[in-house]
Amino acid sequence: MNHQFENRKKMDEFIPFNKIFRGQEEIDAVIQVLKSDCWRGDGPAGREAEAFINEWLGSKYTFLTTSCTHALEMAMMILDIGPGDEVIMPGFTFVSTANAVRTRGAMPVFADIRPLDLMIDPEDVEKKTTSKTKAIVPVHYSGISADFDGLFSVINPSRVTIVEDAAQGVGARWKGRALGTIGEMGCFSFHDTKNFTSGEGGAFLTQCQEIAEKAEWIREKGTNRSAFMRGEVDKYTWISSGSSYIPSDILSAVLMAQLKKKDAIVDARKTVWESYRASLQEAENKGWITLPVIPSYSTSNYHMFYFLTKRKADRNPLLDVLKKAGIDATFHYIPLHNSPYAKKISRGSCTLPATEELAESIIRLPLYPDLATNADKIAGRVSEVIHSYFLNH
Ligand SMILES: Cc1ncc(COP(=O)(O)O)c(C=O)c1O
Repeated sequence: MNHQFENRKKMDEFIPFNKIFRGQEEIDAVIQVLKSDCWRGDGPAGREAEAFINEWLGSKYTFLTTSCTHALEMAMMILDIGPGDEVIMPGFTFVSTANAVRTRGAMPVFADIRPLDLMIDPEDVEKKTTSKTKAIVPVHYSGISADFDGLFSVINPSRVTIVEDAAQGVGARWKGRALGTIGEMGCFSFHDTKNFTSGEGGAFLTQCQEIAEKAEWIREKGTNRSAFMRGEVDKYTWISSGSSYIPSDILSAVLMAQLKKKDAIVDARKTVWESYRASLQEAENKGWITLPVIPSYSTSNYHMFYFLTKRKADRNPLLDVLKKAGIDATFHYIPLHNSPYAKKISRGSCTLPATEELAESIIRLPLYPDLATNADKIAGRVSEVIHSYFLNH
């Protein structure tokens, strides 16, 4: 076999970690907006996507945003938190959860996660709650729900607000209720690593009219321009602090095209997720790895497939052999409580044993709709690599 052919074969077999699910629909939708006179935000495509999300998820108010990061920032502005206030969140999350708090001058307080599902641990939330706690931000990791019953049992709702970081949880549910609609506020991501994407993008959800009114001002540079556009006031003016969080209708059209295919996207992701789960069962039975579980109260959107190596020391070498076999598996968050910035701003040291252990044991596998047609074959390949690794270590 010549080198060129060998390299070509390797490329053909390489399974990237993520691939956008795209079709002619997204292209047509963008062209339609480009041909129109409304490229700005809150035009027909944006309004259609917001109405679609409200109907689909049973939400009263949805506002598209430029990212989940920005939706989280909106939530913290609405809470009007500042220096002296604390917000509890898992240490195992993306920086945006913490930055939204920190940019207001308030303090992110990191709680541990549960080994069972990598969700924030309600017992640790209770321990970390003080008179300064203004909010808690559960992160719905991997497209399943955090344990709301556990959280409701340890927080005082008249003092502490729940802001859901549902960046990964769009379309997933807790006891039938859509993630993002259970806390006072919910935040979605439509980044291109997520189930439904406009490249960059997000949404802010609330079920409370008073919060919705503030969200509308904050998102529109602190003005009541939205009310003016609806003809409810004869001029618009500066009425609150705010910023510019409205996505262009060009992006909203892409999102809308993706949302119309939501069932096909989730079904295909589910096929891949279940193939991995079935193929790796034997490796779990042999005691090498731990597979994910979907708690009975949660419906998954199959955003992510991860597993944990029983011994931390096996994680990086196993990632290497998977990559060599053409599977672009990867780790995930570096815990925030141990990050250089957290150490600089926090008053004391923080230890989160489960977070530290799991962050060094996790392996995420490629998961996207295009893999569905070959799901069993790819899952079988992953299983072979895992077997061959553990039989030799
Ligand atoms: C838990 C979590 N929160 C927030 C974000 C930020 O989302 P965005 O990229 O839309 O700002 C991410 C992104 O991956 C995330 O995983």
